[in-house]
Formats: sequence, C-alpha cells, structure tokens
Amino acid sequence: MEVIETLAATPDTAILWRDGRLLLLDQRALPRREAYLALDSAAEVAAAIRDMVVRGAPAIGISAAYGVVLGARARFAEAAAGWREALAGDLELLARARPTAVNLSWALARMGGLLARLPAGVDPAPALLVEAQAIHREDVEANHHMGELGAALIEGPTEVITHCNAGALATGGYGTALGVIRAAWAAGKLTQVLADETRPWLQGARLTAWELQRDGVPVTLLADVAAAARMARGGVGWVIVGSDRIAANGDVANKIGTYQLAVAARWHGVRFMVAAPTSTIDLGVASGRDIPIEERSPEEVLSCGGQPVGTPGVAAWNPVFDVTPAALVDAIVTERGVVPAPDADKLARLMGAPSRP
Ligand code: MRU
Repeated sequence: MEVIETLAATPDTAILWRDGRLLLLDQRALPRREAYLALDSAAEVAAAIRDMVVRGAPAIGISAAYGVVLGARARFAEAAAGWREALAGDLELLARARPTAVNLSWALARMGGLLARLPAGVDPAPALLVEAQAIHREDVEANHHMGELGAALIEGPTEVITHCNAGALATGGYGTALGVIRAAWAAGKLTQVLADETRPWLQGARLTAWELQRDGVPVTLLADVAAAARMARGGVGWVIVGSDRIAANGDVANKIGTYQLAVAARWHGVRFMVAAPTSTIDLGVASGRDIPIEERSPEEVLSCGGQPVGTPGVAAWNPVFDVTPAALVDAIVTERGVVPAPDADKLARLMGAPSRP
C-alpha cells in the first residue's frame, strides 16, 4: 500500500476518494504521524478495517462501501460477463473484517441492493461510486443534525465525559458524540471535555484529544479508571458516547469501558447520552446479549503504546466492546430524532417497524 505524507490531514477528511483510489488517514499512527494509505482493492480495504487503519462504526461502513467500488471495478475488468459472481468473495471478505459494528453490514446491504439492480455487461463501478459517496455524504449530514439535537438536551455550562473516539475520524465527518460536543461547545454550553484515554488502543488519548485540540475545544485526558472519581467531584452533566450497534430493546454496544461509565453515571446522577445514526440500530437483534462482541489479541492488553507492560506468560482478556443496558441510557440521539429512555416500542416507532410482541 502506498503511503502518502504530502496531503494535509484533517479529522473531517480521514476518508477520501481521489483519482479512483481510496485514501484512508492511518489512525494507528495518529497523532504522532499524519499519513494516508492509498488502497486499490477490496482486500486492502478489508485489511485496513481489520487492522484499525480506519475504525469507528460509520467510518468502517463508508470505507467498506468504497471497497465494493474497488472490488467491482477489478472484477469487471477481469471478466465483463461474470463480474457479479466474482465479486461475492470480496463482499464476504469485507463483511468479515470486524464483527460488532452493524454499520458495516448495513453499508454492504445498501451497496448489495444496488448491485442486484445493475445490468449485466455494463461497468458497475460508476454507479456504485455514486452510491458510496451518497452513504458518505448522508452520514456527515446525519451527524450535523444529531449534533443540534443532542446539544439541545444539554443545559450548560457543564463538563462532559466522552469515551473512545466517536468523532469525525470515526465517521464520514463531524462525528456522532463529538458532533454533539462540537455543537454544544459552539452554543456555549460546555466548560470542557473530559476524554477517557480508552485502553488498550488509546482512541481517547490519541484521536479524541487530537480532534478536539484542533477544534479549539478544551480537553482534559482521564485515565479510564478516573472517570467515577471525577463524577463524584461534581460538575459533570453528561456522559456522551457513540455506538457500534444498538439492539431492538435499546441496549447499546460500544467501546469496552462504556458500560462501567454508564453504571458510574447513574450512581452519581450524571446523564448518559448515546449519539448514533439509525444505520447503527439493528432491529434484527432483540437485546445486547445477541450482539457479537469482538475479542482481539491479548497482546493489545499486555502492551501499552507498543511497549510490553504485562508480566510475560500471563493471560489477558481483550473484549473490545461491551453492552450498556437500555435502562442506563437517558437518551439515544439519531438523525431521525431523540429517543428518551429507549425501549423496544420507541425504537420500533423510530425505525418505522412494527413493535415486537
Ligand atoms: O474499536 P473501534 O475504535 O472501532 O471502536 C469505536 C467505538 O467504539 C466508537 O465509540 C463507536 O464506533 C462509535 S463511532 C461514531
């Protein structure tokens, strides 16, 4: 993969389609190094998702959509007659890249819907590119709308805590949780943002802090273990996070550590907001128990910033997401509206689906 270091990197342009290639800002290297990787195949996109070059639920879905364009272009060039069948392997590779964020299968299903309608014998790539760019653009628009809706819930001035990175980097641009935070900051409702560092990948320390600093939003890093103590001191009005998948009953899967933050928030009377587009809501899973939770290598826990920190030979458990029960969520903010105290009926109504019995 070609590395491009000459492009000015911004959080809002972490995913770029340029000259028929997908450029991804390499999030593994931030903030130390700002470099893009240029991808030319669906297999490279799947590897970039698996290896965390691009991460965050909506960003994974958008990247996969562009991956379909790259795959279809290559398969059509190989065989104008049988490209659709040949593409099935690429779609499978992309779908398997990471299991928890439903935005990945959502985006692939949307691209698949178009694929099924395209005529045989005609290059499918141009039409697929239009669809991938629409998915990308609609995500940014949804984030701006969620930002307004979420910010309206906040009575300032207050501090807020966020976890992981649910910012521009994790989406098509602007961010979900950080979109709310950006809008609330612009409205003068925030005194500062407390960002959990988010072990073991340090998305908070590396990515959220980088984004907020560039936006001029005051940010203070917290070790994950310090969040409850900070709530106990007072002054924190909300915890605001994103999500990788929301079950039909309102249970929320998000970065490991979110659940304990929600428990601590309820104990301290701090309110808990989840900002996520409807592409993150999966009515196909009844509750959080049915959400597949990715487990990654123990090495990620046994090291920190690339340095070994664990006792050699000791085991480590590394689930990278957890599930916060709906009962601990005060509001889910989507581009279609706010769902206070989410439950199955409210989410079904939001999604225009019949309620489950
Ligand atoms: O493992 P990651 O970095 O992909 O996890 C990302 C998160 O958990 C985010 O909080 C979530 O995807 C919401 S992003 C808008």
